[in-house]
Amino acid sequence: MGVREEFFLLSSLHKFLLVVWLCLSVPLTAHCQCNTSPVIFNFGDSNSDTGGFSDALGFSFLPPAGRTYFGRPAGRLSDGRLMIDFLCESLNSTYLTPYLESLGPNFTNGVNFAVGGSATLPRYKPFSLGVQVAQFIRFRTLSPALASKGHKDLVREENFQNALYTIDIGQNDLSWSFSYLPYAQVIEKIPSFITEIKLAIWDLYQHGGKNFWVHNTGPLGCLPLKLTVYGHNASELDENGCIQPLNDAAKMFNVQLRALCEELRSQMKNATIVYVDIYSIKFDLISNASKYGFQNPLMACCGYGGPPYNYNPNVTCGQAGYKVCNEGSRYISWDGVHHTEAANAIFASKILSTNYSTPQVKFNFFCNDKSMINS
Ligand SMILES: *[C@@H]1O[C@H](CO)[C@@H](O)[C@H](O)[C@H]1NC(C)=O
Ligand SMILES: *[C@@H]1O[C@H](CO)[C@@H](O)[C@H](O)[C@H]1NC(C)=O
Ligand SMILES: *[C@@H]1O[C@H](CO)[C@@H](O)[C@H](O)[C@H]1NC(C)=O
Ligand SMILES: *[C@@H]1O[C@H](CO)[C@@H](O)[C@H](O)[C@H]1NC(C)=O
Ligand SMILES: *[C@@H]1O[C@H](CO)[C@@H](O)[C@H](O)[C@H]1NC(C)=O
Ligand SMILES: *[C@@H]1O[C@H](CO)[C@@H](O)[C@H](O)[C@H]1NC(C)=O
Ligand SMILES: *[C@@H]1O[C@H](CO)[C@@H](O)[C@H](O)[C@H]1NC(C)=O
Repeated sequence: MGVREEFFLLSSLHKFLLVVWLCLSVPLTAHCQCNTSPVIFNFGDSNSDTGGFSDALGFSFLPPAGRTYFGRPAGRLSDGRLMIDFLCESLNSTYLTPYLESLGPNFTNGVNFAVGGSATLPRYKPFSLGVQVAQFIRFRTLSPALASKGHKDLVREENFQNALYTIDIGQNDLSWSFSYLPYAQVIEKIPSFITEIKLAIWDLYQHGGKNFWVHNTGPLGCLPLKLTVYGHNASELDENGCIQPLNDAAKMFNVQLRALCEELRSQMKNATIVYVDIYSIKFDLISNASKYGFQNPLMACCGYGGPPYNYNPNVTCGQAGYKVCNEGSRYISWDGVHHTEAANAIFASKILSTNYSTPQVKFNFFCNDKSMINS
């Protein structure tokens, strides 16, 4: 067999496997480049809501939201971009359009089902994870007929299977539980949250999804909101000043989420399920704030009341009387719950490093059309 034939055989039969193998096993000598970005379907809460809440409620967030990047409130609870925006940028992809955007939506590169305030439970309440998945199934089911009628800017049929399904939810489940239950009962509820995530991933898988990117939950006890409103005493604060029981619950949630991802990996044929340790990323930034150029890691840039937390539930960011810091880039917390663009940029760069991922698959691994670049 000549070199030419051998090369042909290699390209036609084994190229895909070779690329997959190289991308997984030799990240230092070879990397994958997307010819076409993967389509992304995102599910979650305000951590990844790019406008769903505003679309659903006909409600615009008030300035100074968006001041750092968009120059206006842009449906995001931050002064700028969210982690998901930076992840899209890393693929040279446009930002995700919310599913509920009714004014000239463009879903070519995916759909964002995340809505601020969402949780896994209660199950049928808008916009719980199950509702978001039901919206996806509706989108997926109705798209072919719309496309054949000539509707553009929808996800192409072949892209549903190669799509990346990203999930970032659970923070509100824990947060709300702590508002009315003692610690032990919050811990008892965690398996019910994990079950909802399990059902969601199975549902997506049964509708053709193969690639999942699952974020765990961050250190709840370091949020200025919790530090202000959650009753605690000094002995419950850790060395960073975060509320230990709340962080312990977040860690417990994460242990179970990680176990779920392992379980699903063993059960779902041909699926890739990446678990990303957002908790460690965020906790590192808070613990080592000054190393990253931040000050006051537990104080909101935008809020009311000044140090130590600059948070007051009666005067939140944007409400009459709020105060905002001059340099958002020096703050990790934007409004007491959500993060600044500066923090989100670092979180995203850590996610993209794959150092916090299991397995260590690159975010741009999930391309529609792969070509291999030696470097
Ligand atoms: C995005 O675009 C930049 C510059 O054009 C290029 O270097 C990079 O490889 C692209 N990234 C992906 C994931 O295609
Ligand atoms: C929709 O977005 C895609 C890229 O994501 C772009 O190529 C296309 O031109 C957009 N459509 C419109 C009508 O802007
Ligand atoms: C602090 O709170 C915990 C939990 O409510 C309690 O067990 C502990 O006794 C309290 N410690 C002090 C010094 O009040
Ligand atoms: C897994 O992928 C192989 C090769 O593409 C295919 O033949 C098989 O049907 C797939 N299995 C499932 C359960 O999707
Ligand atoms: C803070 O940074 C140090 C030095 O890089 C590192 O060893 C430590 O793990 C970091 N802390 C956290 C909580 O990640
Ligand atoms: C918020 O307003 C309520 C009702 O006016 C008041 O009781 C409460 O003390 C206020 N909270 C703070 C932190 O100022
Ligand atoms: C990822 O880990 C490598 C090797 O430990 C380290 O050199 C690199 O700085 C890390 N990157 C990030 C963003 O943490």
